[in-house]
Amino acid sequence: MAKLKTDDTEVEVQDGGKIIEACETLGVPFGCEQGTCGTCQIEIAEGEDNLTELSDAEEDMGMDKKNRLACQCRIKEGTVKIIY
Ligand code: FES
Repeated sequence: MAKLKTDDTEVEVQDGGKIIEACETLGVPFGCEQGTCGTCQIEIAEGEDNLTELSDAEEDMGMDKKNRLACQCRIKEGTVKIIY
């Protein structure tokens, strides 16, 4: 199991799974869930290499490895710490 965490909470995510539900549990707000509104932007404090590559939608929104759209990411394995 992979893990998504903030400073004080962590949620398990299946290896290779989308992080959207875990982020909702952690309190990240969502809007379109299709990579176009930017509401779900998160900062990656640790473990950015454990996320899948940026989607086309994320690149169109100007994201980079440290700034992702939570509705677009999957976690490959390991732990990722987010700030939002
Ligand atoms: S919820 Fe709109 S970009 Fe993720």
